[in-house]
Amino acid sequence: MKKRYAFLAAAAVSFTAAALFWQSRTQSRNEENKEIRIGIALYRGNDPFINSLRSQIEDRAKEYEQATGIKVVLDVADPKGNQNTQNSQVERFLSLGCDALCVNMVDRSAASYVINKAMDADVPVIFFNREPVEEDMKRWERLYYVGENARESAVLQGTILADAWKADPLSLDLNGDGRVSYVLLEGESSHQDSLIRTEWSVQTLKDGGIPIERLTGGIANWDRSQASALMGQWLEEFPGQIELVICNNDEMALGAADALERAEEGRPIRIVGIDGTPQGLEGVKKGKLFGTVRCDIREYAEIIFEIAAAEALGQDVRGQIELTSGIYYECGQEAVTGEDLQ
Ligand code: BGC
Repeated sequence: MKKRYAFLAAAAVSFTAAALFWQSRTQSRNEENKEIRIGIALYRGNDPFINSLRSQIEDRAKEYEQATGIKVVLDVADPKGNQNTQNSQVERFLSLGCDALCVNMVDRSAASYVINKAMDADVPVIFFNREPVEEDMKRWERLYYVGENARESAVLQGTILADAWKADPLSLDLNGDGRVSYVLLEGESSHQDSLIRTEWSVQTLKDGGIPIERLTGGIANWDRSQASALMGQWLEEFPGQIELVICNNDEMALGAADALERAEEGRPIRIVGIDGTPQGLEGVKKGKLFGTVRCDIREYAEIIFEIAAAEALGQDVRGQIELTSGIYYECGQEAVTGEDLQ
């Protein structure tokens, strides 16, 4: 019996030694080459939030090059919202020999195709912003997800309004009838952030003791012009009744503000967004938006990049970055109103 243990122990030691040897071979080979190649697959390049994230990732890559002397080649692809195009772009990244992929799925339920290809090529994938289902995420230890906690964004958004209500109910209840009549602009129906943000924004208003009445709501797919068109219709449908516009993101909030301007609406209807994009913050500063929830986009980009670079060099990612269930990272966010920006 003892002998058998001794044999197993010896086998385990030599197996571990071999594994360590190969790990350090891969590591030093990459570090010797002083170049890592990372493919970034966006869902849509003209989405302002995704666009600022992309440019932040590029900045982080430059800083990393300067700090480490390791050259970073970033390949960025824009499939313009088409999943088939994105699949081909991912395959192209793999054939170019990318060391890691950062993927913002067009259709988050279609991640298995990307995962299969990446697993075949033994290339890690850092998904971001559009979260694959948990079953997919658990298929392989080289899969990660970086995003924001959607419930937290919504609670922060709702709290901006609950605070305003406490300070002065008539700032929201414009006609003084004892309730706040709101409309709600939602992002894509299949996006995890839309569903959860909508639910928790409204819940936070209720928890904050605001008597609310929903006039209507609609899907504007995160998009400024779609939101502007919907808001324009609602202003005609509910003349003089809308008191608050809750939006799942800043772009739609800006679209709602465009519609108010077009309609020459005189009442101070409050509009809130989420993201804290440069355009959104500018809207808050100018008083077009009452508030937003600013995501720490620098941290967001840093974590995506750090995981990709560490994986590309064969380093121990989980030893470097604390991840929930070894897979997930949630970026920081904070509520922002006009007062904060003064
Ligand atoms: C952001 C939106 C963005 C969307 C793209 C959301 O988390 O709030 O602004 O359009 O992600 O997937």
